[in-house]
Amino acid sequence: MESWVGWLGAAHLWVRAFHIIFVIFWMAGMFMLPRYLVYQHPVAPGSPEDALWITRIERLRKIIVGPAMIMVWVLGLALAFNIGFAGNGWLHAKLAIVFLFSGFHGWIVGVSKKMARGERPVSERGLRMLNELPSLVTIVVVLLAVLRPF
Ligand code: HEM
Repeated sequence: MESWVGWLGAAHLWVRAFHIIFVIFWMAGMFMLPRYLVYQHPVAPGSPEDALWITRIERLRKIIVGPAMIMVWVLGLALAFNIGFAGNGWLHAKLAIVFLFSGFHGWIVGVSKKMARGERPVSERGLRMLNELPSLVTIVVVLLAVLRPF
């Protein structure tokens, strides 16, 4: 892996800065998505208010969280190959957590599509609990990335 180290050269700090910028966009959107679903939950399917929430949620998905997640992965992997994987245990742990969180992203998008069709596959209480997940992931992943404890 040594040959990969430093391939970003002088662009390295720019890539890291934009990695963090897109992390903020992604996480901001992931804080909003389950919260919007909590608001949509009690609304009568097919009502004008339901249509408003469906539009808001679709925009959040297509304009913010989808593109932001892709950018975080692209820039994050560029940084990962730049510093190398050997000896960076924190990076392996971070990748595992972010991989699972990306799965959650896909799953909650699926829930939002079902809710747009009038289904309510998750209870309102369940959605409120899921709304805490992005905060937890943010705390653990930022501590891993900044403190690099192992
Ligand atoms: C999608 C997969 C991701 C990968 C592959 C990845 C990879 C990396 C790598 C390799 C670095 C170190 C950069 C360097 O030393 O030059 C880094 C920095 C950082 N990452 Fe990620 N990352 C990902 C997602 C995230 C997420 C989801 C968050 C926050 C919730 C995050 C927050 C940070 C922060 C704050 C830094 C800066 C740490 C510092 O400079 O002290 N990353 N990332």
